[in-house]
Amino acid sequence: MERKWWHDKVAYQIYPKSFLDTNGDGIGDLRGIISKLDYLKKLGIDIIWLSPIYKSPFVDQGYDIADYYAIAKEFGTMEEFEELLAETKKRDMYLIMDLVLNHCSDKHEWFQNALNDPEGEYADYFYFRKGKNGNPPSNYRSYFGGSCWEPVKGTDLYYFHMFSKEQPDLNWENPKLRQKLYDMINWWLEKGVSGFRIDAIINIKKNLEFPDLKPDGKDGLAECWKMIESADGIGEFLEELKNHTFQKHDAFTVAEVFNMKDGELARFIGEDGYFSTIFDFSAHCLSEGKHGWYDAPDVDFKTWRKTVIASQIEVQKYGFEANIIENHDEPRGVSRFLPKYAANAAGTKMLGTVSILLRGIPFIYQGQEIGMQNAVWNRIEEYDDINTKDQYNIARKAGLTEQEALEVCSKMSRDNARTPMQWSSQKNAGFTTGTPWLKVNLDYKKINVENQENDPDSVLNYYRKLVGVRKSAEYKEVFTYGKFVPVYEKTETIMAYYRINEKDRILVAANFGKEAAEIKLEYPVKRVILSNQENVSAEKIRNSELVIRMESCEVIVLECEYTV
Ligand code: GLC
Ligand code: CA
Repeated sequence: MERKWWHDKVAYQIYPKSFLDTNGDGIGDLRGIISKLDYLKKLGIDIIWLSPIYKSPFVDQGYDIADYYAIAKEFGTMEEFEELLAETKKRDMYLIMDLVLNHCSDKHEWFQNALNDPEGEYADYFYFRKGKNGNPPSNYRSYFGGSCWEPVKGTDLYYFHMFSKEQPDLNWENPKLRQKLYDMINWWLEKGVSGFRIDAIINIKKNLEFPDLKPDGKDGLAECWKMIESADGIGEFLEELKNHTFQKHDAFTVAEVFNMKDGELARFIGEDGYFSTIFDFSAHCLSEGKHGWYDAPDVDFKTWRKTVIASQIEVQKYGFEANIIENHDEPRGVSRFLPKYAANAAGTKMLGTVSILLRGIPFIYQGQEIGMQNAVWNRIEEYDDINTKDQYNIARKAGLTEQEALEVCSKMSRDNARTPMQWSSQKNAGFTTGTPWLKVNLDYKKINVENQENDPDSVLNYYRKLVGVRKSAEYKEVFTYGKFVPVYEKTETIMAYYRINEKDRILVAANFGKEAAEIKLEYPVKRVILSNQENVSAEKIRNSELVIRMESCEVIVLECEYTV
């Protein structure tokens, strides 16, 4: 496999609105990010992904872009962005932007032009279609609820949107539109960004017949992604996109891809694939409800283990995926993937270790490195997220009481990841001197960066060690390119795997159980590389005849003797 500059990197996602506010308006900003670059460097971060910072009405928190060439004034100026970029480079770090290509904001001038002249050139940048017998052109439910078709006032036309009605979908069939997008992408690459996280990209290829689908809910609508699954030919778009932009700049791209078709992985992330990598969401899909968040199942350990293992084995045949435990669309990983008894510092370190040492590109989401957890939400008004409000209504319509619907949202809401970053035990967790745009998690006095800086055993200091191990001169090779081989899969509570190459054999083992458990090592131990417990030593393990007793929430990373 050809080696790429990004293979051995560790990435960090910043959600700018919630990262750090420096002017007291309650909204995180670019100055805040600049001031924390040294903090990220110390954590071992190479690549920083910024969720959208473009000009936007923020209906979907910046994923509705009104001008691809402008920085949102809430976050700062283009000069400040350039300063951020320069400061990042100074520290040998790489900055990647969020690229939203499936849709823009209804406030974007293209869409405004289209509304002003629904038969004109710009209307063809979008999907404007006639209704059918007084109804919308087809019966799709958008991701954020309601029909995907919105009437164009004063006409018999509708425009198409897979997300909110303020996020009209762009018509990728139009070559002029595609060229404008490529120009914009190249403009940012020429400015010096190192690549992109690419939003919702699977949705760009529609089934142009927009056929009605069998309704899957009482509203008579069907999930819009089912139409996407019936569309062929996305590969041509993605290949062209890559050739006109990323490839020329050796850019790093990480795509958000759900609903990929069987057998497509190699074309997406293989040698000469459309993207450098895509996120592995297989574990996150385990808590997908059939009808919404209200029937979302809890994640069960054995299913989770099986899923992670299966994904690792499949992906290593072709390339790399990006491993996450959470992002801005997901609840906090500690609250989701760990049983209640493990939602503590030891469990947090365990989950982090198992995730970061997998084969692939680790992405840490802001606050993950201090073990941030889901917040407690008491009223629907406390939320900002458009998706949460929709899911709340869906739950109520399905017959859940207000209390029950709130519990569902507490568990699944995207706002769990969007509460302000907890920097200190000062007012508002040190995030702002003003009023935070979204409430601060009440646990901030306990979980915050400042406290953890001063505690050698903290989650933060552990994450620093963990990332350090992954990137160390000694082990970098095996953690980057080493094969993933699962082990102890038949045990009740152990998640474990080897990372192996021609020279090293590393064992990562974690006990997710409530009780202690034992494993018998298959190979003599050379060295304990990392552990979240005290008094674990190679000598002790040798003396125990290679039987390790693992406490609840214990994780251990061992270098084994290399015997074939
Ligand atoms: C992606 C983003 C999400 C956004 C959606 C629409 O899934 O991660 O935050 O709401 O796309 O742009
Ligand atoms: Ca601010």
